[in-house]
Amino acid sequence: MALPRQVTPPRIALSDAPPTRVHGADAVAIPVLVDGDTIALGPGSAELLDELDLDVFGLLEHHESSGKAGEVVEHAVLSPEGLSNPSLKCVLFVGVGEGTPADLRCAGAALVRRTKGRECLATSLAALTDDAGLRALVQGLVLGSFGFHRRSDGPKETPVAKIVLAGVPGSEGRQDALVRAVAVARAGWASRAMSLVPSNEKNPLWMAEQAAEVATSTGLKIRVWDEQELARDGFGGLVGVGRASTTPPRLIRLDYTPAKATRQTPHIVLVGKGITFDTGGLSIKPAEAMMNMKRDMTGGGVVIAVMSALAEVDCPVKVTGLVPCAENAVGSDALRPGDVLRHYGGRTSEVTNTDAEGRLVLADAMAYAVSEIKPHALVDIATLTGAMKITLGQRTGGMFANDDSLADLLRAAGAAAGEPLWRLPLVDDYEERLESKVADADNAPRGPGGAISAALFLQHFAGSLPWAHLDIASVGDSPVDSGEWTTGATGFGARALLHWLELSDPLAGVAAR
Ligand code: BES
Ligand code: ZN
Ligand code: ZN
Repeated sequence: MALPRQVTPPRIALSDAPPTRVHGADAVAIPVLVDGDTIALGPGSAELLDELDLDVFGLLEHHESSGKAGEVVEHAVLSPEGLSNPSLKCVLFVGVGEGTPADLRCAGAALVRRTKGRECLATSLAALTDDAGLRALVQGLVLGSFGFHRRSDGPKETPVAKIVLAGVPGSEGRQDALVRAVAVARAGWASRAMSLVPSNEKNPLWMAEQAAEVATSTGLKIRVWDEQELARDGFGGLVGVGRASTTPPRLIRLDYTPAKATRQTPHIVLVGKGITFDTGGLSIKPAEAMMNMKRDMTGGGVVIAVMSALAEVDCPVKVTGLVPCAENAVGSDALRPGDVLRHYGGRTSEVTNTDAEGRLVLADAMAYAVSEIKPHALVDIATLTGAMKITLGQRTGGMFANDDSLADLLRAAGAAAGEPLWRLPLVDDYEERLESKVADADNAPRGPGGAISAALFLQHFAGSLPWAHLDIASVGDSPVDSGEWTTGATGFGARALLHWLELSDPLAGVAAR
């Protein structure tokens, strides 16, 4: 069945020319900066005011403009005939606050929300920025334009088709930075789109098809295990969780090797939870809690999206992405509470709650990474525990790590990417909660601190590797349109991981264990 046409991200170009000189632009946007107690107009304003008879400060005052990032004041151009660009229909004044990357991200997102349906937006928002600012701005422009639908009559609204970042001196020399910025933003878009796909279209095989498309278009190596191969190779957690579904489980492996790799090139493994729907299994979820469970594959979608952009951001290390995919369904063959599963490598888990399925599938993939890939670091990302919402709310992701440098690198990358991560403790004293009467661990210890118990469960599968675990359960969903977030699934984590993996040394200071 052909899917209805989707909106696509705006095309973005750089230009030295002032925005008013961008031919064909139907909207021009000028930054408004906070300057001490007052506001100032940014680059491009002089050229604009030469041509347009407009009392800008009167207009801004009328709208009580403070220059705060994301504030937009719009002026309709009623008679553009005499202008150097007769296509011009509106001028927007966009608050950029202090001009920090976060301000620019927010301003970019606000601007594209106000220019939906336009042909071409020319803006001088990038005129004063360095590459970090450019990147944040592009993230706002791209992700604020995000749309996803399954309406029969097409998308409700379409983003502006083209954006020219004008007035950028030496724009030729900034082209590389723009390409990288777009790659990261598009990875955020791709992971968000995958999370929004309804689960009647999205099953483990579909996930494998997405990964195969990425592999074909970007030249990554791919291997996919089917259910027989998973059983044969001992992936008991993944087989167990996936066995009640009519769409059987898959394990996806994608491999990226940098062009300049040598035998010394470090290797990082990313593991993403790929539960394409989580009913809870026989420990079934209440209807309300099941509502958003199509996005329980967000971690897996993030890993696929990150893998697709590694070459474009020139990632210097080898990266393997592992995505264990299954549908946690209810059926006569479903996993039962009390069942014991044998993970890859032999460790066993007693399933006291079939809704704690994420850790069961991650465990297999992590154990496989440790024994077969032997990387220098392991990072998993998963919508793992509802407890995260109570712990950190919906704007910050949870992070656990057994290595301080790895945690610091990820924290800094998340902050720069607008996907903040907050480190939580792997409390040793809680280890006893994992005890099971019959197996090596209980998959669902009761009691408070559920996100910590889950992390402690996973830690046993990280071997002695430097390891970080990102629990993105609550940030996987945005309750409102806000900044670059759109209501619903967020695809959180792709940007943060790419900001990390593009560093010249993503393992700086990380202990060799
Ligand atoms: N997929 C859920 C976690 C989740 C909850 C993600 C809400 C996004 C929003 C996970 O598989 C789960 O159900 N975890 C249980 C674990 C419990 C049974 C130990 C939870 O958090 O309630
Ligand atoms: Zn669950
Ligand atoms: Zn789940």
